[in-house]
Amino acid sequence: MSIRIAVLVSGHGRGSNMAAIIDACQRGEIDGQVVLVIGTRSEAPALQRAAEKGVRTRVISPRNLSEEEYAQRLLHALDEARVDLVCLAGYMRLLPVPVVRAYAGRVMNIHPALLPLFGGKGMYGEHVHQAVLESGMKVSGCTVHFVDEHYDTGPIIVQRCVPVEEDDTWETLAARVLVQEHQAYVQAVKLFAEGRLRIEGRRVRILPPTSP
Ligand code: GRF
Repeated sequence: MSIRIAVLVSGHGRGSNMAAIIDACQRGEIDGQVVLVIGTRSEAPALQRAAEKGVRTRVISPRNLSEEEYAQRLLHALDEARVDLVCLAGYMRLLPVPVVRAYAGRVMNIHPALLPLFGGKGMYGEHVHQAVLESGMKVSGCTVHFVDEHYDTGPIIVQRCVPVEEDDTWETLAARVLVQEHQAYVQAVKLFAEGRLRIEGRRVRILPPTSP
């Protein structure tokens, strides 16, 4: 069964992970369809990019709304679009708890480091990669995980590593990680669409493919 996917982006998100998921659906690699991209601001380049790919977009801004009202608007949009999976991609705020609960086990996020290291509030973009460089670690990478009620703490689905090079700046490291992000996110969504992810406590078990 083909799954229905919504992608959430925020602010000025450029939407490269979103685009990777849309493209993988459109070329048939993922048995699914991105039916909706929701942004927090109309100026987000990600929304334009989605529209150019023929995907419906909506702006739901949390500004001037209580957390409860924002949650209800998100839920209404997701329910109305009959969404099976929500992918956060450059969504820089905590997803409201009612949404996390209503879509438990059906919301994923991507983080540009190897969780549980270098995660949590304030750890995004440049801050993550700077912290990795300052730590002296020789590897970094990315993590796709299910979303729970906190920042970056949900069960891990897929991780990919990259080396930290001697002359790396945060920009060169970020660029190397980003290539892996696109592949990791597509892989995780594909596994979900195939019904091959089972959450067991903190672990996500990847089930073998079923024969056709
Ligand atoms: C990515 O680095 C992702 O890991 C993080 O936000 C960034 C979004 O980039 N959560 P893009 O908008 O997908 O290009």
